[in-house]
Amino acid sequence: MVDVLLGLQWGDEGKGKIVDYLAPQYDIVARFQGGPNAGHTLKFEGKKFVLHTIPSGIFREGIMNFIGNGVVVDPITISDEIAKLISFGVDYQNRLFISKKAHLILPTHRLIDATSEAAKGKKKIGSTLKGIGPTYMDKTGRNGLRVGDLTMPNFESRYQALREKHLDLIRLYPEIEFDLAGEETKWFESIEVLKSIKQVDGVYYINNAIASGKKILAEGAQGSMLDIDFGTYPYVTSSNTIASGVCNGLGIAPTKIGEIIGIAKAYCTRVGSGPFPTELNDEVGEKLRKIGQEFGATTGRARRCGWLDLPQLKYSILINGITQLVITKADVLNTFEAINVATAYRYDGMEQVHLPYDLETIKVTPKYKSIEGWTSDLEGLLGFEMLPDKLLNYLKFIESFVDVPITMVSTGPERKKLIVKKEYLHA
Ligand code: GDP
Ligand code: IMO
Ligand code: MG
Repeated sequence: MVDVLLGLQWGDEGKGKIVDYLAPQYDIVARFQGGPNAGHTLKFEGKKFVLHTIPSGIFREGIMNFIGNGVVVDPITISDEIAKLISFGVDYQNRLFISKKAHLILPTHRLIDATSEAAKGKKKIGSTLKGIGPTYMDKTGRNGLRVGDLTMPNFESRYQALREKHLDLIRLYPEIEFDLAGEETKWFESIEVLKSIKQVDGVYYINNAIASGKKILAEGAQGSMLDIDFGTYPYVTSSNTIASGVCNGLGIAPTKIGEIIGIAKAYCTRVGSGPFPTELNDEVGEKLRKIGQEFGATTGRARRCGWLDLPQLKYSILINGITQLVITKADVLNTFEAINVATAYRYDGMEQVHLPYDLETIKVTPKYKSIEGWTSDLEGLLGFEMLPDKLLNYLKFIESFVDVPITMVSTGPERKKLIVKKEYLHA
């Protein structure tokens, strides 16, 4: 059976931390989409690690980690990740597998990303510039190169042909600074490291595991509002970040999916451009950013901050079929006397919980409910029954609005700072 854990907002909900916590309950942790645009932070035993392509089960002994066909892989980033894992003493070679069908990010994909964003000017997406969009474009355009191609005799010539095509395209855009020759040298060196990861026929790898009773946790990247189809288009990423992406990105049938765990911050953040109805461009937003340390794990950019948005959360829960909710970063609200939560949007002269088709052109005004804060710290609390009443009240309000049980509350970045509802401990 495959359980899924994915982000319900605009990414950075704390997926890495929760997957790292849950991993020992599973046999395999699998990434199914996205690529090095992701930055998943793990903190344990005083150490901090940011993973970009490698699944967040890699630090748990005996747990296998699988990079599915839906992921786009940059040899340079993955070889940097591997070098760091080695320095942490992690034996990855027997525990990391990659689908031969995962697509490769070329240096020229990153160059296209950078030039096309520069050409967009004010309309830029705010991409991480990791080459994600151009690589998925080549995948759907049927031009891409895949991990399994690396060992084919004609790999060099196919690389050169694609590179030339990219350079023709790049000529359409304004010139930017980019050391293509230097990046290509690094890329070809890194391929050797990528080749040290065991390549598998992903469909058989994952389905054989399921058939032999293994438990799999699919780890999402980005968040549902960044989904290519259902997010705040065009300010989105280029993959299906929602639960349906698990089937395409791993090669499994929908009938194999069990729990779908959705993760949301106790407030909201977004990094990059695009609509964000509950954004706070004031000292409250600044306070959230400061206490929550809201700076991108991949790019270091300041994250935009705002209140929890329940119409948005309900929408994400709907498209994912969420069966349980995890609320993270509750501790960030410890000092807030009043916490706002959006319960509806005003637009077209009406109050609605329905998200308009385009949040950029259809301006919405959130309607807020103010909830009393718990104004105490959450250190040392071990169970739901120990949580302050006002925090429980906040959680109950969310639960009843979205009609999904909250089974975990995260109270700090460290692995251990997680409160799990007893009845779900081994869900
Ligand atoms: P991901 O992309 O969803 O894995 O999330 P990121 O790692 O990009 O961002 C989440 C950030 O919040 C990281 O710096 C985490 O260490 C941190 N974090 C996760 N859970 C909590 C929490 O409950 N409280 C606090 N204060 N920080 C948290
Ligand atoms: P994790 O997995 C937050 C955002 C970028 C940009 C848009 C498109 O750590 O939650 P792209 O590089 O895909 O072309 O960028 O999506 N974005 C993320 N924001 N967390 C992420 O991943 C993100 N991955 C992409 O900031 O707005
Ligand atoms: Mg992140």
